[in-house]
Amino acid sequence: MAATPGRPARRPTRRLVVELGARSYPISIGPELIDDPELYLPHIAGRQVLVVSNETIAPLYIEAVEAALAGLDHRRVILPDGEQYKDLATLNRIFDTLLRERLGRDATLLALGGGVVGDMAGFAAACYQRGVGFIQVPTTLLAQVDSSVGGKTGVNHALGKNMIGAFHQPRAVIADTETLRTLPDRELAAGLAEVVKYGLIRDSAFFDWLEGNRVRLLARDADALAEAIERSCRNKASVVAADEREAGQRALLNLGHTFGHAIEAGLGYGAWLHGEAVAAGMVLAAELSARLGWLGAEDIARIRSLLAGFGLPVDPPRELTRERWLALMSVDKKVQAGRLRLVLLRGIGDAVVTADFASGALRGLLDEIAG
Ligand code: NAD
Ligand code: GLY
Repeated sequence: MAATPGRPARRPTRRLVVELGARSYPISIGPELIDDPELYLPHIAGRQVLVVSNETIAPLYIEAVEAALAGLDHRRVILPDGEQYKDLATLNRIFDTLLRERLGRDATLLALGGGVVGDMAGFAAACYQRGVGFIQVPTTLLAQVDSSVGGKTGVNHALGKNMIGAFHQPRAVIADTETLRTLPDRELAAGLAEVVKYGLIRDSAFFDWLEGNRVRLLARDADALAEAIERSCRNKASVVAADEREAGQRALLNLGHTFGHAIEAGLGYGAWLHGEAVAAGMVLAAELSARLGWLGAEDIARIRSLLAGFGLPVDPPRELTRERWLALMSVDKKVQAGRLRLVLLRGIGDAVVTADFASGALRGLLDEIAG
């Protein structure tokens, strides 16, 4: 594309594909994508589209999305904003709209927002008439690097995070990096926690790169953010292609999440952001790995320093007793035959999912952090 005189050339769109045979789909990453019809139309089967968003994001971006859908029969449903609304009652509002507006089996749902909107719209698409198509238009860093990719959808239950859901892959992911300009700093940091996760579980070169580019990322340098999003999505797409339904290695993507989900559910959804809880959870997983003799003090220091440098919490909240921690952690999708499995680290870039750890080591850690 030729640059307009006086205007900087538009940065190129980065493209990758989640390889899942007939259900493969593209991820497009870059600026000024949100109103590009060519990114949407090939992935919309019929003429009916329901845009699902929330009351914060819709005023900012829904018109741009709807411009791309001009000529189609599009409607919208606007949900309340917040993790506390990621529940069955709010999900029902999507079904109410789908039925009231008589959307058919060839309708497409379009999730415009962060992980909460994406998980709920995706779950509604998985369930409505036993499954309709959906497109992810993620607008948080967390959603652009993680939740919009891979087809995990669902809602929370008071007794456990993300415990009700389905695997349902989107038809396309359209990550417009310009939308990150309006994201609050705290939300940007929460997304960076999931970015660090990829470095920790399988990509030590990426972890090194993050250490070297911390300041650029915090300053929202466009190239640095696009690079971080692409490298995160490449890692996630590779894991999902190898293990779509989490029979094995996909569980590694849950580093820090068993601890993190306990924090989120234990303190009440929304008190800590998901990414914040994951950050503190990854440090706990690293600390437990160190207690088992798998990880050295130098690695722990690097992990703490990078996360803290991104403005993320590296210590858990003090409110939970040891018994509460254990009860909350026992409601986890990685529990098998009553045994808790955790993602632990053998080094930076080298994670394992295992039930084979001394339970005394976990209890000792929880004793130290419990309130
Ligand atoms: P979120 O969806 O709550 O969004 C964070 C906040 O930012 C919200 O207030 C939202 O309205 C606002 N926002 C979104 N985009 C904005 C923008 N461009 N400008 C200004 N404000 C904006 O939170 P999240 O961190 O995106 O997602 C967290 C959720 O994702 C959790 O429920 C978590 O369980 C889920 N998740 C799912 C997966 C998966 O694989 N499905 C992976 C990771 C996390
Ligand atoms: N965020 C974990 C996964 O997608 O598997």
